[in-house]
Amino acid sequence: MMKKLISTKSIVVAASVVGAIWMLPAVAGARVSGVCSGCHTMHNSQDGVDVVAAGVSRALTKGGCVGCHTGTNDGLNDIPYVISTTAAYGTNTLAGGNFKWVADGSDAAGHNVQGIATRDGALGITPPGNGGTALATQITCAGTAGCHGKKTELDQFTAMSGAHHGNDSTVNGLSLAGSYRFLSGILGKEDTNWEYTNGAGDHNQYYGVDRGTDNGTADDAGTISALCAQCHGTFHTGAGEISYAGAMDSPWVRHPTDFDLSSIVDKANKEYQYYTTYSVEAPVATSVLTSGVVTTLVNTNVQTAGNGIVVCVSCHRAHGSPYADLLRWNYSTMDAHNGVTGNTGCFTCHTTKDNS
Ligand code: HEC
Ligand code: HEC
Ligand code: HEC
Ligand code: HEC
Ligand code: HEC
Repeated sequence: MMKKLISTKSIVVAASVVGAIWMLPAVAGARVSGVCSGCHTMHNSQDGVDVVAAGVSRALTKGGCVGCHTGTNDGLNDIPYVISTTAAYGTNTLAGGNFKWVADGSDAAGHNVQGIATRDGALGITPPGNGGTALATQITCAGTAGCHGKKTELDQFTAMSGAHHGNDSTVNGLSLAGSYRFLSGILGKEDTNWEYTNGAGDHNQYYGVDRGTDNGTADDAGTISALCAQCHGTFHTGAGEISYAGAMDSPWVRHPTDFDLSSIVDKANKEYQYYTTYSVEAPVATSVLTSGVVTTLVNTNVQTAGNGIVVCVSCHRAHGSPYADLLRWNYSTMDAHNGVTGNTGCFTCHTTKDNS
């Protein structure tokens, strides 16, 4: 019933991307449908001049994915901006982080997405944990070589077709618009401002599962880690885990994901019991669904079974961060028993490995 509402408020496409800056008239109120001309150009021509650079106007839009999604988040923008030259980590960046740092040349600080950065100097187009197999092309925003949209389509706009106008009021993974952040088949609860504001009770709620045994990828459908596993599959499996084909438990050979803090053997005697209030720095996913939909947030109930699931994005940002390996925090400051206090970064879960 409720149609996806999109507004044209403050859409600015970077001059460098399309060759012209255009600002749309502000629309009263957030998330109202905007006029077609705000986002579309019928002939890519105005007064005989190209509106956007040739080739960029796919689906007749006034900008490609990168063009429309470039800008500075101010909490009022109706477009989630994921690349900004003025990105200040944790201040005007969103849940996925930002591509600024990889665009500025730090290959390890983000996914080297086509149109944003050149190929990764060290990794090329081969995702680590993919059995050495390269992608068909450099990683893209959407489609076969990307994260958003349908994986079956190589072309980004074919892969995304209909998503922006689709009904996304129910995120059940059954349609693209109804998938978490247009990530086909992925579940989750979407924070309305993409975590521009955030806190224990104000965040995206990621979906995960607790894998008691490792079935490869059979039992992880719809999780945020399954998204990452599309290209980094080995890192999500416990294959090689010492008790492989049996329990998922310590000692591990790979950091666990899709594994619940509540399932830790002898939990009552371990450090993980002290992670109780949700941390946006090291988030945990929930496995709790109501009619196939994530409806509630993990807040002060991290230790409730199903609410403390470790996922790839517990430690990584999907787009990029100022830190190596797209990490959510500076790993080089995670210094065990050496002066650091407070449950930050790795210490959010490993609460007794700091100076305590
Ligand atoms: C706020 C920006 C925005 C506005 C306003 C907008 N569109 Fe779109 N539209 C898009 C984007 C982005 C795409 C391409 C990506 C996609 O399909 O999700 C698109 C795709 C389309 C498509 C192809 C895919 C589909 O959904 O069928 C059609 C047709 C379309 N728009 C028509 C319109 C019409 C008609 C209007 C005005 C009534 C309009 N749009 C207003 C952003 C917008
Ligand atoms: C004409 C401008 C325009 C273009 C082109 C465009 N987008 Fe968007 N995009 C928007 C707007 C506006 C929104 C905010 C819609 C909303 O959430 O109400 C949005 C939202 C999104 C979201 C977040 C959806 C959510 O659940 O919050 C994703 C992901 C996304 N776009 C991906 C893409 C990809 C991938 C492409 C290229 C295939 C693309 N966009 C092209 C304007 C655009
Ligand atoms: C479409 C395939 C694809 C998906 C899906 C994907 N990645 Fe990647 N990833 C790559 C490729 C290709 C590279 C190597 C080149 C680069 O950095 O762009 C990479 C590199 C990385 C790196 C190392 C960065 C560096 O440059 O050293 C990390 C960390 C990473 N990905 C994490 C993730 C996480 C977390 C997710 C899920 C949110 C994810 N990836 C989803 C393809 C993918
Ligand atoms: C969201 C919570 C969480 C975060 C954040 C986290 N871990 Fe873990 N870690 C776990 C859990 C849960 C286990 C499995 C514990 C068990 O099975 O006893 C684990 C296991 C480990 C192990 C293996 C222990 C064993 O018994 O085999 C190491 C080493 C480790 N983590 C290091 C790190 C480092 C380094 C970081 C930061 C980069 C980090 N962890 C961040 C939750 C987390
Ligand atoms: C507990 C925190 C944590 C979790 C959870 C985690 N990672 Fe990592 N990841 C790291 C750290 C730290 C590094 C840096 C290298 C290292 O210390 O092993 C890293 C490195 C990487 C790399 C780069 C490897 C290379 O060869 O350069 C990729 C790709 C990656 N992670 C993907 C993933 C994926 C996919 C998941 C989920 C299946 C995941 N990570 C879950 C902490 C984590």
